[in-house]
Amino acid sequence: MWGGRFDGGPSAIMREINASIPFDKALWRQDIAASKAHVTMLGAQSIVSGEDAKAILSGLDKVAAEFEANGVPEDWALEDIHMTTESRLAELIGPVAGRLHTARSRNDQVATDFKLWVRDAIDQADAGLEALQKALVIRAGEHAASIMPGFTHLQTAQPVTLGHHLMAYYEMAARDRSRLADARVRLNRCPLGSAALAGTGFAIDREMTASALGFDAPTDNSLDGVSDRDFALDYLSAAAQCVLHLSRLAEEFVLWASQPFGWITLPDGLSTGSSIMPQKKNPDAAELVRGHSGRITGCLVSLMVTMKGLPLAYSKDMQDDKPPVFEAASLLALSIAAMTGMVAEATFRTERMRQAAELGYATATDLADWLVREADIPFREAHHITGTAVKLAEARGIALDLLPLDELKAIDARIDERVFSALSVEASVAARSSHGGTAPNQVRARVADARKALGMDPV
Ligand code: ARG
Repeated sequence: MWGGRFDGGPSAIMREINASIPFDKALWRQDIAASKAHVTMLGAQSIVSGEDAKAILSGLDKVAAEFEANGVPEDWALEDIHMTTESRLAELIGPVAGRLHTARSRNDQVATDFKLWVRDAIDQADAGLEALQKALVIRAGEHAASIMPGFTHLQTAQPVTLGHHLMAYYEMAARDRSRLADARVRLNRCPLGSAALAGTGFAIDREMTASALGFDAPTDNSLDGVSDRDFALDYLSAAAQCVLHLSRLAEEFVLWASQPFGWITLPDGLSTGSSIMPQKKNPDAAELVRGHSGRITGCLVSLMVTMKGLPLAYSKDMQDDKPPVFEAASLLALSIAAMTGMVAEATFRTERMRQAAELGYATATDLADWLVREADIPFREAHHITGTAVKLAEARGIALDLLPLDELKAIDARIDERVFSALSVEASVAARSSHGGTAPNQVRARVADARKALGMDPV
């Protein structure tokens, strides 16, 4: 399609290194849609005749039907999806097909197609995250008062509720969705009509193509229009942050599923067995989500490095923008679906969680807070007194609330029997009812807000 000024054809190596059809055939639907929008506009502007526009439009529909039925043929000589579509169009409708490429270049064409594809990927990730949020909210509602140890440094810190813990991931998913939505707003300007790099002398109507393809407006600078890949980077960066969250949840599930914890039983359908150890049930799906976070982050870094230092406008390096985006999108969709399934179907072994919360002096802060509140002792001093009590309980191998009152009094005379009511794990979580705290009433309030935000029925 560009051979006019060449004497010989490309070498085998040139063909192979140049061919993007093995991966960019994934853009065929977008390529057809953008071509239809373009030729409709060319017809409306009388840049091509109404009759030719009609022939091209119905030809494009035929090409689409063939691609749908038989897949996209992979001929390296045709380089990419744009030439593949156009050459099939020419085979079907003859030389009039050659009018489609008027006032257009593959540079604005690929930028447009790719934006359309990324926009769909954003919408798909958003829908997946919404489903994950719903699963989290349902399970959090069930476990608003189920007690588990909360950690810092993976050391028992204070008791929390499982519902509170799950709702932390709801918040992360909410930010992920907001990052995707934000990326979508910036993406949604149409580069079609930027042509090769400088715009075109034909009297095109860029508003018309932009709106036909669901964009808010055309882009305002043709050089930027063909060379901008920020939209792909925005998407990858949102995807990377999202999968980091999924990976943290996956890691917690892996940990909780291990026998010494025994806090969770993962669904059989999202676990695997071992070929040698009959007792094994492995959390492979969670581990793979954790693994995929590395790959998706790699995709982001890959495209950042590709774009670094590219002069304006289009350079062929940019053809390498697609594989990392395609890879990240499929890994992300799978990761979201896997975590959604695990959240929805896991059995939480709340009795084991509660037992664990009893260990590790998780209510020590409650003793210190009690001394501050009831005995008017400054917090730093209360902290010290409590530390002494923990040391004693540890030496005796018993829980804090099992220390006899006289021994507590020996540490500080201001302690009295009322302290015991503050030392249970239930009292500890119920006390933390500040906005966003772990108290069951707070968790239920946040779950109610979330159900409303997600359009779910109130519980
Ligand atoms: N396959 C190319 C890509 O994905 C399309 C643009 C080709 N442009 C060009 N000037 N050779 O980037």
